[in-house]
Amino acid sequence: MRTHNCAALRTTHIGETVTLCGWVDRRRDHGNVVFVDLRDRSGVVQIVSDPERTPDSHEAAAKLRNEYVIRITGRVSQRPEESLNPKLPTGEIEVYADQIEVLNAVGQQLPFQVSTAAEGETVKEELRLKYRYLDLRREPMAENLRLRHAVVKAMRRFLEDEASFMEIETPILTRATPEGARDYLVPSRVNPAQWYALPQSPQLFKQLLMVSGMERYYQLARCFRDEDLRADRQPEFSQMDLEMSFMTQEEIMTLNETLVAHVFKTVKGVEIPTPFPRLTYAEAMAKYGTDRPDTRFGLELVEVSELLKDSGFKVFSGAVKRGGIIKVLPIPGGDRISNVRIKPGGDLFKEATIAGAKGIAYVRVREGGEIDTIGAIKDNLSDEQKQELLTVTGAEPGALLLFGAGDAATVNKSLDRLRQVIGEQLGMIDPAQVNLLWVTDFPMFEWNADEKRLEALHHPFTAPHPDDLDDLKTARALAHDLVFNGIELGGGSIRIHQRELQEKVFETIGLPMEEAQEQFGFLLDALDYGAPPHGGIAYGVDRLVMLLAGADSIREVIAFPKTQQARSVLTDAPATVTDRQLKELQVVSTYNPEAED
Ligand code: AMO
Repeated sequence: MRTHNCAALRTTHIGETVTLCGWVDRRRDHGNVVFVDLRDRSGVVQIVSDPERTPDSHEAAAKLRNEYVIRITGRVSQRPEESLNPKLPTGEIEVYADQIEVLNAVGQQLPFQVSTAAEGETVKEELRLKYRYLDLRREPMAENLRLRHAVVKAMRRFLEDEASFMEIETPILTRATPEGARDYLVPSRVNPAQWYALPQSPQLFKQLLMVSGMERYYQLARCFRDEDLRADRQPEFSQMDLEMSFMTQEEIMTLNETLVAHVFKTVKGVEIPTPFPRLTYAEAMAKYGTDRPDTRFGLELVEVSELLKDSGFKVFSGAVKRGGIIKVLPIPGGDRISNVRIKPGGDLFKEATIAGAKGIAYVRVREGGEIDTIGAIKDNLSDEQKQELLTVTGAEPGALLLFGAGDAATVNKSLDRLRQVIGEQLGMIDPAQVNLLWVTDFPMFEWNADEKRLEALHHPFTAPHPDDLDDLKTARALAHDLVFNGIELGGGSIRIHQRELQEKVFETIGLPMEEAQEQFGFLLDALDYGAPPHGGIAYGVDRLVMLLAGADSIREVIAFPKTQQARSVLTDAPATVTDRQLKELQVVSTYNPEAED
């Protein structure tokens, strides 16, 4: 149908007759001469129809509208000096169209301008998602999909060609895997009253493949999790999922550093130094209040429980008495942050309270290094305490010290949030910087206050640290998360490969033996049949591409994403089904919208 892609044409083609296909990106009339930016996947080239030079195409050219699909045949010409366009790869040439054939017209008014040549237009996301096929014609989205393809391709090339991994598909209709979210369920028509769960990850199958002796498995795996959506969460998302046998945790991390460095080099041309920095969970929580710290900027937290536990300020002393902690977030140059923002009603106050804090206590370091106590702390710190605060925080004149006091989880959560917001606002973050780091030595379990039981922090197949086997409840896990500029990019671990230990872990999370047998009997049996030591990791592909694209939501790098309400506005899914379908499935709906409120 065509001889060239639009963007392939250069001055070397001048004089050649070419046939091109594509969409009318923009059409402009200059007097009688019609100019068309013709766009295909490769890019744009300028087509000209001139009543004098190309009379045969002129009538068709005059009728063209934006987004018509056309095929043109014409001669490549040098552009006149005054219309050279150095911004376009094809900017030195244009094609004089001898023939223009309309392959398809546009029958309705376009919901938004597809051409991105006119910058600055913003289209509502809802509308973009409804007409996603048009949205994907736009250059930024097409570029994101190309980037996504390049990332996956680089990963596959490395895993298959450099590291002997084999891609193996695992079932989508399966049993629930405990990754911590709700399951999407699918009723089985032929097994009435029984349900498949869509996989939250291929975790158990990849472990079984290790028992099968596959040694190095990978899969670009679609995962399904029914959880509250955020900018970096979708109900279905893609993992680059890896599992390997006979490798230590250290070896697994090294191989993955090489993989990630390869992706950055191939896709972005950026060299990422290896090995990546490592933080233990305890270090990360202490310094940053989170297990996925953004280390592109300082603002490290300092614990001051011991120093301030006897202060006259009740919020401090009371917190420690109740088993809580006191931490401080020192902000150099914090005199740029006004008191109004920290007090009730202020934006920073709001941030802290969203994270569960009741408020923010604060002091300022004045010229000469005097600590100025403000508000509720006023006169409640001794000179020794002030001096020691300066020493432990290293605070200089102009610094603002924000305090968190209470239970450790709330203190960490609120100071982490304040740290991020302030780092951003004070321009401390270089958006071009890439900070990748491992967080290791997570606790095996955390307390679920609602269910009053321990639950696995990662998943219950994670192996405990061999030094901590005496008390599993407080054991560290052989887990490793990869964090990219404060976002969890991947997570994995060494797995339990012995039945006895797996049973003990089930017991620790309060899963009765019978239930464990019913849910995971197949895994326990497999572990009994010669399971090799193994471990792995899974990357969130959408998140990786989002970060590489500099996008602020994973919806920008997924061809057909769901909205925050887990809907597809394009196909209008989910949708109701017929009574007949439900009957066939032996499913009855108890939904009663009136009873909802
Ligand atoms: P985990 O649950 O940490 O580990 O998931 C791995 C990575 O997948 C990404 N991710 C998501 N991306 C988009 N939307 C979501 N709803 C979502 N949930 C998770 C994150 C995360 O780091 N089976 C284990 C892996 C293993 O142990 O090997 C697992 O699934 O980037």
